Order: sequence, then C-alpha cells, then structure tokens
Amino acid sequence: MATTPAHNRLRILFVDDETHLREFMRSELPRLGHEVTVCADSKAGIETVKKQTFDAAILDMRMEHDKAGLQVLAALKQVAPDTEAVIMTGYGSTETAVEALRLGAFDYLTKPCKLTDIEALLLRIQEKRRLKHKTAALESRVQAAEGPAGLIGASAAMVPVQQFIQRVGPTDGRVLITGETGTGKEVVARALYTASKRADMPFVPVNCGALTQSLAESQLFGHKKGAFTGADKDHKGFFEVANGGTLFLDELGELDKNLQVKLLRFLEAGEIQRLGESQPITVDVRVISATNKDLRQMVAEGHFREDLLYRLNMFHVHLPPLRDRREDIPELARHALARHAKRPVESVAHLITPEAFQVMVNHEFKGNVRELVNAMEYAWIVSGGGAITPDYLPREMVAPRAAAPVPMAYPVPAPAPAAYPVAYAAPPAPTLPFPGAPTTDTGAGGPTKSLADVEMEYILQVYAKNGMNKQKTSDELGISLKTLYNKLHKYEEERQRRAG
Ligand SMILES: Nc1ncnc2c1ncn2[C@@H]1O[C@H](COP(=O)(O)OP(=O)(O)OP(=O)(O)O)[C@@H](O)[C@H]1O
Ligand SMILES: [Mg+2]
Repeated sequence: MATTPAHNRLRILFVDDETHLREFMRSELPRLGHEVTVCADSKAGIETVKKQTFDAAILDMRMEHDKAGLQVLAALKQVAPDTEAVIMTGYGSTETAVEALRLGAFDYLTKPCKLTDIEALLLRIQEKRRLKHKTAALESRVQAAEGPAGLIGASAAMVPVQQFIQRVGPTDGRVLITGETGTGKEVVARALYTASKRADMPFVPVNCGALTQSLAESQLFGHKKGAFTGADKDHKGFFEVANGGTLFLDELGELDKNLQVKLLRFLEAGEIQRLGESQPITVDVRVISATNKDLRQMVAEGHFREDLLYRLNMFHVHLPPLRDRREDIPELARHALARHAKRPVESVAHLITPEAFQVMVNHEFKGNVRELVNAMEYAWIVSGGGAITPDYLPREMVAPRAAAPVPMAYPVPAPAPAAYPVAYAAPPAPTLPFPGAPTTDTGAGGPTKSLADVEMEYILQVYAKNGMNKQKTSDELGISLKTLYNKLHKYEEERQRRAG
C-alpha cells in the first residue's frame, strides 16, 4: 500500500453493479493510499452514506435503472454535502452528467474509465480539500488575531441594531451610523460589511477627520501623474481601492465642504474623477458612514450639505450609549478581557469577580464601550493576569469623586442580573493601583495618592496604551528602557508586598 500521509488519505465510497469493477477498486484504491468501501447497488449505497462518512464517492450512474447513481448522489449531498462525488456515466450520456453536476457532483467520468483518470480526479479532490482546510485555518487565525468577531450586545436596546444588521447588511444600501464616541460605530460598520455580498471584497475605512487638507481630494479620488507638484506617478484613491467593496467614511461630520460636493457627485453618478484626469471612472462602491456629530444641526448651521446627508442617510442606525444597556456590560467585559489576554473567553471569564462586575455595571461610562475595553486592558495588566477585583479597575471607576455616595445609576432591571445585585455599594475607596494601600481621606476630594503612586499609575496607563510594548512606552515617557524595567519591577514587588 502506498504510504499516504493520514491527512491526504481519502475515505472513498465506490458504488457499481459490475462485480469485476468493484473487485478492481477494492484492490487498486488502497494501493493508491486510500480506504475504500464498495456497494453493489443504489439501495446499499444510500444506506451506507447515511451510516458512514466519506471524503469522496465514485458512483456508477446506471445500475438498477438509468439514473440510479443520481439517487445515491442526492442522498449523499443531503447528509454529507462536503463529500466530493464523481459520477461515472456511459458514453454519450452528457445530459445525465450535467444533471449530476447540478446536484453538486465534483465531476464526472465517461465509462470505460482508466485508473489514471480516477487517480487524477482523486488528486484534484485532495487539492480542493487541502485548500479548504488551509482557508479554514487562516480564517480562524485571523479571527483569533482580531478578537471575537461580531457585535456583542443582546440587551433590549441592542436588539434593533442586531436586526438592522441582519436586514440591511446584505443589501447595497447606504447606511449612516450615529452614536456617542466609543459606542461601536466602526464595529457595526464592519458587521454590516461582513453580512454583505461584498464581504470578499475590500473594506476601506477612511477617517474624514484625518485627511490632509491639501491632499484630501487625491487621497479620496486619486490623481494622475503630473497632476500637481510631487505627483510623480498615478495614484489610486480610496474609492478605487474599495471598488467592488465597501468604503467606510468615519467621522463624516469632519468632511470638508469642497469634498462634500465631490462625494455628492459620486453618489449621484457612481463616478469619480482622479485629479488631473479628464475622464471620469465608474466605480462600484457601497458607502457606509458614521459620525458622533448632530448632522441635522450642522445642516441648520450651514456646515453640512443637506442633499449629501439625504443621500448617505438611506438607512440610519443609532447606537445607544452603554449606560442605556448595562445588561451588556458583563459580556462586553469578558470579551474585552479575552481580547487583551489573547485567550479564549471561557478561559478568562472567571477572572472578573462579581464585585468588579458590580462596579462596572454601575459606572457612568462616558467613553462607552471603548472605556470599558480600556478598563479591561488596564485591569489585565495591573492584576498581572490574576483575579480582577475592584482594586484593579481604573481609579475613576471605583473611587467616587464626590463625597456623597454616587447614586446607583444602574436602572433596576426586571429582573436584575442575579449575579450582580444592584445594591452593590462602592468598595471602601481603594488606592489604585495598589490594593490595600494606605489612603488619606480628604473628605471632599476622595482619597489622595502618593506622588509615587500617581507616577506609577501614569506609567501603567501609558504601558497599557502601548500594548505593553516597553520600548514604545519608554519612548513616550522619555525615560530609558532600563528605568522603565526598574520601575515595573519595583511596582510588581510593591504590589505583592501590599497584597500580603
Ligand atoms: N458591541 C460591541 N461588541 C464588541 N466590541 C465593541 C462593541 N462596541 C464597541 N466595541 C469595542 O469598543 C471600542 C470602540 O468601538 P468603535 O471604535 O467601533 O467606536 P466608535 O463608535 O467608532 O467610536 P468613535 O466615535 O470614538 O470613533 C473598540 O475596541 C471596539 O472593538
Ligand atoms: Mg469610530
């Protein structure tokens, strides 16, 4: 038997009513390194596909009747759509072969067929399977790198958003996404794109606020060589790059008036014009835009074109602030933690203590989900990967600034999430980042911190912001790498000492 690696070995079903062919395959397919199961008629074939799994099936078309093979094929595709099927037809029966392909057959062979033909077909099937596995592996790696895909949020306030994505995502409709900063506008834009027919084509995000004033037109629409001083070669703008796909115009409220006119031209005619080029270019681009500005107000004040707003706002979705969907906080926190820890949600979820959840569900979250995501990054770093108690949450979350107790903002939901009773009181003002550090209560301003604590907290924030990259952190802080190492080391020692 050939020594085929296990992942290349095919489990093959061979169904044919000719005894000598069955016997031939029974000996030859294992010689090619495969496993084979043979059946003598369509009935036995159908029974077998229901009970066993195969990678490939070779089916004779004509057995008890002219199209018996098609029946086996149909049954196979119903129970195991991933099994690749090859139909063997008589000479001149292309019609049935076409029917087989329509039913999902991988290919067909005309009888009498040679072993080399079968061998070649099996090689193609192996290659297809190899590519399929490779794609799946790449997809899962991309997903792991990007963190959990999709939009988290099952609260009543998020249900309409989820439904919106399901309904409008697959269309080519233009969408305007509004919502406060950090509510997930970009996440929604990507979810709309993922749900669309254009998901295999580019998603090109453009931050309208970050376009360089003098180059903005070329950045968006491209330019021809020589269009202006310094234009030494042709340049494709974002619209051309996004051709066939989706362009995400983020911070739409920042778009300059001159560009608003050019954008309108594209939306009306589907054409763009490169700078320095006389001929317009037709591009097929779906536009999704987002803003945290009140565009109607901007129209009223003459800062945004009403006709443009009307065109971009074919569909509108507004993202509720996090304080209006506190039920989502625990799940968002778990996913954010998993993202920073680069570990599956299940393996980190238990690290967040009920007390920490309670602090979070009662917090105001002016920065919405982004603030929560950052808090989890901070907590992951300062807890050193251990249990996250309120002590490890950012100070402004735990220590109320006012002397009076902060009213519990979490609206009493019906029913309240059982694990986090609403009556949770803020913990005795801890001094972050050190649990149990001595505090001096100033009465009105909350606990004060030592200068060293303030410095350390700042260092940790910069460290967290830079993705725990020590080089970047020391550069930003203007201290040497060695000093940073020493400070982090001292901090860790101090933390352990104070934690007892
Ligand atoms: N529903 C959600 N599920 C998972 N992650 C989310 C969700 N909403 C927001 N996030 C995360 O919160 C952060 C901020 O989200 P995003 O950038 O989409 O906000 P935004 O509304 O575009 O904010 P801004 O107006 O400041 O640009 C990101 O890290 C994002 O991954
Ligand atoms: Mg954004």
